[in-house]
Amino acid sequence: MSKLPNIGTSIFTVMSKMATEHGAINLSQGFPNFPVDSLLTDIVTQLAKENVHQYLPMAGYPPLLSNIALLVKKSYRRIILPEIEILITAGATQAIFTTIQALVETDDEVIILDPSYDCYEAPVLLCNATPVRVSLNDDYTPNWDTIAKACSANTKMIIINNPHNPTGKILTQSDFEALESILKKYPKIIVLSDEVYEYITFEEKHISAHTRINLLNRCVMVSSFGKSFHVTGWKVGYLVAPEHLMNEIKKVHQFLVFSVNSLCQVAISEYLDVVSIEGIGILYQEKRDHFRELLKTSRFELLPCEGTYFQVASYAAISNENDVDFCKRLITEYGVAAIPISSFYENGKDLHLIRFCFAKDNATLEEAAKRLCKI
Ligand SMILES: Cc1ncc(COP(=O)(O)O)c(C=O)c1O
Repeated sequence: MSKLPNIGTSIFTVMSKMATEHGAINLSQGFPNFPVDSLLTDIVTQLAKENVHQYLPMAGYPPLLSNIALLVKKSYRRIILPEIEILITAGATQAIFTTIQALVETDDEVIILDPSYDCYEAPVLLCNATPVRVSLNDDYTPNWDTIAKACSANTKMIIINNPHNPTGKILTQSDFEALESILKKYPKIIVLSDEVYEYITFEEKHISAHTRINLLNRCVMVSSFGKSFHVTGWKVGYLVAPEHLMNEIKKVHQFLVFSVNSLCQVAISEYLDVVSIEGIGILYQEKRDHFRELLKTSRFELLPCEGTYFQVASYAAISNENDVDFCKRLITEYGVAAIPISSFYENGKDLHLIRFCFAKDNATLEEAAKRLCKI
C-alpha cells in the first residue's frame, strides 16, 4: 500500500541519468555549472574555522532574518518583522511542503496551474486533500475564468509560481487583479507564491506578492538562496508569512527539520551584506541573450523568456514525435539533454515544446547550441 501510488521517478532524474549515460550536455535540470562567487566561497572557508557548527534558533540565524527583512524592504518596500514573519527552510521545497502540511486539511482542494513545477502535488496528497490542476492558456497566461470556476468553498489554497518554471513567464498587474477578485469571493483561500526566481528577471521586474496589499495577510511567499546565489546544493531558502499562518507553519517546521544548516545560514547572512542583487538578473540576461543568439540559425522556435533561467523551445518544425521521445533522441543522437514540457502537466499535454536550462557557462552553451543547430 503506497501513500503516493502515482508518483514515480521525476523526469529530471530520468533525463539527467540518461544524459550521464550518453555523455550528453545536460541542459535539463535547473542548476548552474559555473563557479560560485568567490566572495561567498571565501566567507564559507573562513567561517568553517569558527564556532558556527551548532544548532541555530528554530526560525533561523537572527542576523540572516534581519538581512532578509532589509532585502525585502529594499526590493519591494515591504516592512516585515524578522523574528515573526520569516522562516529559514531547507530550500524552497521544504518551505512549500511545510506550508502545505501546516495549512491544508483533509478534503480541502488546492489549485495548481499547469504546466507546473513538480513539488506541489505530493504534499497536497499527503494531507488527504485534492490537487485541482488547471491548465494555463497555450500562451502560458493564466485563464482566470477557468481558475474562478475551479474554486469552491472547499478551496484552501492557490499556488502561483512567478517568475514561472518551466515557461519563463511573469504575472501581470491584471493577473493579480483577477486573482484578488477571486480571493474576495472566497475568504478562506490562501495564496502560496513560489518566487524562487524572484531575482532572475530581465526587461521587466516581476510583480511580487510582497507588493500586493490585498494579499499580505493571506499569502505565503517562498524564495530560494539556491537559485539566487547559484548554490542549489546548499538547500537553503525562506518563506515569509503573516503571524497567524506562520504560527501553524512553525509547528510543522520544528518537527520536520527544527533548524537549517548553520554554516550556510551564517555565510548567506554575511554574503547579503556585500552581494549585488541586481547583478543576478544581469548575469542571467546575458546568458539568455547569448543562448538565444546562438540558436538563431537553428530550426527551434524560441518562446519569450521574461524570467527564470529556462528557455522553452518549439521543435514543431523539426519533428512530429511526442516531446518525451524527442528529448530522448536529442540525448542519444545529438548529445543534448532537455526536459519535455508535457511532464509538467497532470494530463501530459504535448505541444511539441521542450525546456533548456541556460544557467551554464558560455562554453557549455556554445557547444550545446552547435549541436542543436545541426538538427
Ligand atoms: C519553481 C520552483 N520552485 C521550487 C524549487 C525548489 O527550490 P529549492 O532547490 O530551493 O528547494 C524549484 C527548483 O527547481 C523551482 O524551480
